[in-house]
Amino acid sequence: MTGKLTNRRILVGVSGGIAAYKSAELVRRLIDLGAEVRVAMTKAAQEFITPLTLQALSGKPVSTDLLNTEAEAAMGHIELARWADLIVIAPASADIISRLAKGAGDDILTTICLARRCPLAIAPAMNQAMWHNSSTQENLATLQKHNIHQFGPDKGGQACGDIGFGRMSEPDALAQEVCKCFETRALEGKRVVITAGPTREAIDPVRYISNYSSGKMGYALAQAAAEAGAHTILISGPTALASPEHVKCINVVSAEEMQEACMNQVYESQSPCDIFIASAAVADYRPIEIAKQKIKKNDQDTMMLEMVKNPDIVATIASQANSPLVVGFAAETQNLIENAKSKLAKKQLDLVIANDVSKTDIGFNSDNNAVTIITKEAITEMAERSKSQVATDIIDYVATYLTKTN
Ligand code: C5P
Repeated sequence: MTGKLTNRRILVGVSGGIAAYKSAELVRRLIDLGAEVRVAMTKAAQEFITPLTLQALSGKPVSTDLLNTEAEAAMGHIELARWADLIVIAPASADIISRLAKGAGDDILTTICLARRCPLAIAPAMNQAMWHNSSTQENLATLQKHNIHQFGPDKGGQACGDIGFGRMSEPDALAQEVCKCFETRALEGKRVVITAGPTREAIDPVRYISNYSSGKMGYALAQAAAEAGAHTILISGPTALASPEHVKCINVVSAEEMQEACMNQVYESQSPCDIFIASAAVADYRPIEIAKQKIKKNDQDTMMLEMVKNPDIVATIASQANSPLVVGFAAETQNLIENAKSKLAKKQLDLVIANDVSKTDIGFNSDNNAVTIITKEAITEMAERSKSQVATDIIDYVATYLTKTN
């Protein structure tokens, strides 16, 4: 079983305030929940806690300087902004809140925030008088208008001796708020069946034919569907991945087994299936016969293996009269949109997620993906992101599409 934040990339921003010591604990909590964490600090933050502490806890270099060529060469601020699935600034001082409200880009942290593609959250921490100051409140209202999440602050005793609002929320509570950011509830009450990974087609008792699919995309989709509130069933070929939390995982090996499990889950279950997503890389052919004994080498330089076509699982599901909303994938090396569109029509799919597998930095075994969603009505391009963020975006899109077409 994985954690609630498995595969999520969280950038923790630390600004200058006494609560900065709690950022260390927050980084640990997020990692415990499965997240990959990177940290960016303002200059003032480094007066309260050292980058070394946060580097040791996150296991990654900490970004402290916009103009440091060496650090920028390792992972520049734009790359870091693209990397993150969520940025959380904890503590967020009155000063950084003011700079964010103005759209400043005067240090590493504000620049990353300006260049981000992901949601941003702040955990304010300051003296109660600073908190109540009308300038701070106006700045917070501006951030709210820009859909920036606010976690806390709490009320209580402060480092300066005052009592009131402005204490940063505790790391545990902040980590829970971070989890909630990924829980969209867009598929509450829906039942979703997803295929993932490769299939293995046996040749004899010790050999098989398969492919390089890692299953990462399908597992990320299952995690995103569960986070969206769906009752999620993952039918997976052999992978090295752990089943996401709150997902029922059915392990299969061959295409025929996968087909049987899919038909059972989609058409023979007590509860109807609303969405079927086929992300598995199903082997197109299987050996006609599986040899009962290990095939022995002989004197011939070549050998023949006769193969038969496997069932097309997604097309079979989509061809039934009472089919759910069906989503397929098109992994192409050329003519991406054209080939994906023809797959949409030929397999009677509602949506096709097209991705260009000729690029080595995205697709198959990579942690990133860039996809185009194709329906009969529209072509929507999605920029390159982590597979978990792409999965969340696909699930959101599918949920909206389901509402529109129902
Ligand atoms: O035809 P092609 O394999 O390119 O189509 C890819 C899509 O069809 C994917 O969604 C894949 O999961 C699904 N598929 C399937 N059963 C097959 C072959 C592909 O469900 N036998």
